[in-house]
Amino acid sequence: MSNVVSLEAQHVLPTYKRHPVVFVRGEGTRLFDENGKRYLDFLSGIGVCVLGHAHPGLAAVIAEQSKTLIHTSNLFYHPLQGRLAAKLAAMSGLQRTFFCNSGTEAVEACLKFARRYWYSKGIRNRTQYVALEHGFSGRTMGALSVTANAQYRDPFGPLIPGVTFIAQDDIQGLEAAVTDRTAAIIAEPIQGEGGVRPLSPAFAAAVERVTTATGTLLIADEIQCGLGRTGRPFHCQSFGWTPDLIPVGKAIGSGIPIGAALVAEHVAKEIVAGDHGTTYGGNLLSTRAALFVLDELDTLAPHVKAMGALLEQKLGALQQKHQVITAVKGAGLMQGLHLSVDALPVVEASLKAGLVVNRTAETVVRMLPPLIVGPADIEEAVGILDGALASATAGAAGTKRTAEQVNASR
Ligand SMILES: Cc1ncc(COP(=O)(O)O)c(C=O)c1O
Repeated sequence: MSNVVSLEAQHVLPTYKRHPVVFVRGEGTRLFDENGKRYLDFLSGIGVCVLGHAHPGLAAVIAEQSKTLIHTSNLFYHPLQGRLAAKLAAMSGLQRTFFCNSGTEAVEACLKFARRYWYSKGIRNRTQYVALEHGFSGRTMGALSVTANAQYRDPFGPLIPGVTFIAQDDIQGLEAAVTDRTAAIIAEPIQGEGGVRPLSPAFAAAVERVTTATGTLLIADEIQCGLGRTGRPFHCQSFGWTPDLIPVGKAIGSGIPIGAALVAEHVAKEIVAGDHGTTYGGNLLSTRAALFVLDELDTLAPHVKAMGALLEQKLGALQQKHQVITAVKGAGLMQGLHLSVDALPVVEASLKAGLVVNRTAETVVRMLPPLIVGPADIEEAVGILDGALASATAGAAGTKRTAEQVNASR
């Protein structure tokens, strides 16, 4: 890192541990640092830049909108907002959208709307939530309250009371946790920050069954796994879920900050003017960008399915080679290499070799590439990971396992 940058960086609150690289430019699946070194981006700003970097079409609509009108506030309706809400309704089946600025804000909105639903119905004690162990829904106080990780929660208590966490596959625990005081269950169809852990079909079916039987609202947190990343508009569609609320963020603006809470009509009709708000929500620049992104995602869906299958296959082959890989988990272009050792040395060795991935849940190498990623990119990324695994885990890795051993651990 250059001296000037490192001096200035002292003014940035160090809430993140940062890698010693400064990216100054991007193009498609590539990033370039200040020394001109080229990297393959398999993280896309943590699942955000789905169209890759410096997408000419996205750049053009942002430029055009910025020269036309950027912001007027929510005191005034604009057709771009209606168009984006209609598009999201067509994708999700949820008829209404509340616009905000980030994933965590979308979660906050969903948590509030769930409580408002029961309050409006005159049922004032359905205020509690059920959430999942290893779940992550953001860092603001409400979202943090339904986020499991003690390291994130403990310094900031007391959080919202009445949140019960259950293990991902604990169907009996789920049935016991949902009571006549539960407003909503919140779950990520594929847990992201918790280590790329898809819900099992049996557990997902139990969630749908329990919410339907008890009337408990279902909040499907699709902020990381949704919006085309697994080849469908929303990953929960693969479970046949009918969520009442879906928070989205990250990919929707492909880098322009925007979030949205998607709301089913029966919930929406209990919400009145003044219940919730944010100055920037529905901002015309981000709305215009999101409309462009979602149109592109429609076209990309078959490509994502094909590239997801290829990535999964290549990572499976990598698992055969490296004993430290205990499992490959994920779907589509959201994949995690679960290791028996700390994943950080692998992430650092990859970065040195020109591949951007990250560590999550200590032992998982997470991949969230741009959805425009091509077969040559995948080939290159897996090649770099192969070398990084070999160098970073030398000593930890043992002999090659048999196919039976590998399959047993998947
Ligand atoms: C599933 C999930 N929900 C919520 C959030 C919070 O979103 P943001 O950090 O964009 O506000 C994240 C962020 O990683 C996430 O992965």
